[in-house]
Amino acid sequence: MTAASATRVTPADLTITPRDRRFGRDEATPRWWHGGNPYASALYNALSATFPIGEAFFVESVRKFRDGADPRLAQEIAAFTTQEVIHSREHLAFNRRAADSGYDLTLLEARVEERLALLRSKPPIASLAATMALEHFTAILAHELLADSRHLAGADTATAALWRWHAAEEIEHKGVAYDTWLNATQGWTRTKRWKVKAKVMVLVTRNFIVDRTAGALELLRQDGITGVEAWARLLWYAWVRPGMFARVFAAWATYFAPGFHPWNEDDRALIADFGVDDATFRKVRSAA
Ligand SMILES: [Fe+2]
Ligand SMILES: [Fe+2]
Repeated sequence: MTAASATRVTPADLTITPRDRRFGRDEATPRWWHGGNPYASALYNALSATFPIGEAFFVESVRKFRDGADPRLAQEIAAFTTQEVIHSREHLAFNRRAADSGYDLTLLEARVEERLALLRSKPPIASLAATMALEHFTAILAHELLADSRHLAGADTATAALWRWHAAEEIEHKGVAYDTWLNATQGWTRTKRWKVKAKVMVLVTRNFIVDRTAGALELLRQDGITGVEAWARLLWYAWVRPGMFARVFAAWATYFAPGFHPWNEDDRALIADFGVDDATFRKVRSAA
């Protein structure tokens, strides 16, 4: 048995289903779409600003290692690619609506480009390790978003639907980058794998928290909210109530445990409402 197959715990009956949905195309999205709350809106907008560029990078990083993947993993990489391409399309449309309501996201996008340029200057396995770390991040944030209705309470209906749909698909494909990594590093020792994985996760976490906080503060500055008030109320929202970042800490830490795999926690019950039976689902052609 190879190291990859020994540690692969992705459920045998998992299906990754791209759902080609469109959100919020018919009307303008309110500037403070998240319940009239500038801090909540700024935090989610700062996240969304990173998605079109970031998810294209995830796809590029994973697909560099698809040679040598078994047929099942190859199929999952294809479905993951299709899901991420559609996510990018919908978040690009959302970001345009944010721009229409007066926000300038260019500084936030430039920051992501800068981080990714540094990663691209390193061997491709570094990009895969960063993708794997960020996909864990995305999956635990998605889990929390769907598990606790307070996170989107009061949000604009179409925009909340966009975030829930995205969260559901992030849970569904959460093992793909990880399994690709297991396959690509079969020849590595366990110690080397852990060291690289852990080091990259620490760096990615630091950058994620610093950059998303700075991004949200920039959007609040564009709202005319600055100084201690901006910092204090943004940090309260992100870390205390509802406290998304603090609430995912325990799930984040499992990444460093021996034997970690994203599917050690099977949380598909959270995405049951987004299944293939859904009336608005229509099958999409693979973009991979
Ligand atoms: Fe995504
Ligand atoms: Fe993803």
